[in-house]
Amino acid sequence: AIERTFSILKPDATRRNLTGAVNALIEAAGLRIVAQKRVLLSRAQAETFYAVHKARPFFGELVESMIAGPIVVQVLEGEDAIKKYREVLGATDPSKAAEGTVRKQFALSVGENSAHGSDSPENAAIEIAQFFSGNEIVG
Ligand code: CMP
Repeated sequence: AIERTFSILKPDATRRNLTGAVNALIEAAGLRIVAQKRVLLSRAQAETFYAVHKARPFFGELVESMIAGPIVVQVLEGEDAIKKYREVLGATDPSKAAEGTVRKQFALSVGENSAHGSDSPENAAIEIAQFFSGNEIVG
């Protein structure tokens, strides 16, 4: 089915001017960027976005890395978009990511792993709603 997923190009990616390089991989996979904006997260926004990881030992480091610079938030649309985008990204840990994936090519570490993609339709809907209103998404 045609789905929408939520994507973040993280500060380590924007800092190295990789927005276009990641977007090229997204589009080459047949996903359409139907909404996109560059923003600087507040600490509160980053903590809310990653609330499910609050109890993890890396939570503080994760929040710091996400507010270290601008991010690009996106909505991606396409056939099986949630699973497809996670394939484009590769494993969370770049040392385990497959050849040709975003994280294999660009990630610096498991924390600074260049991009985020939703892991389920439920979370995609929640994450999209945190950053975009309906009229900002144009399919
Ligand atoms: P993301 O897809 O944004 O979802 C949660 C993030 O937590 C994940 O990508 C990683 O960047 C980060 N993360 C997961 N495990 C670790 C870890 N061991 N140390 C630091 N960050 C981590």
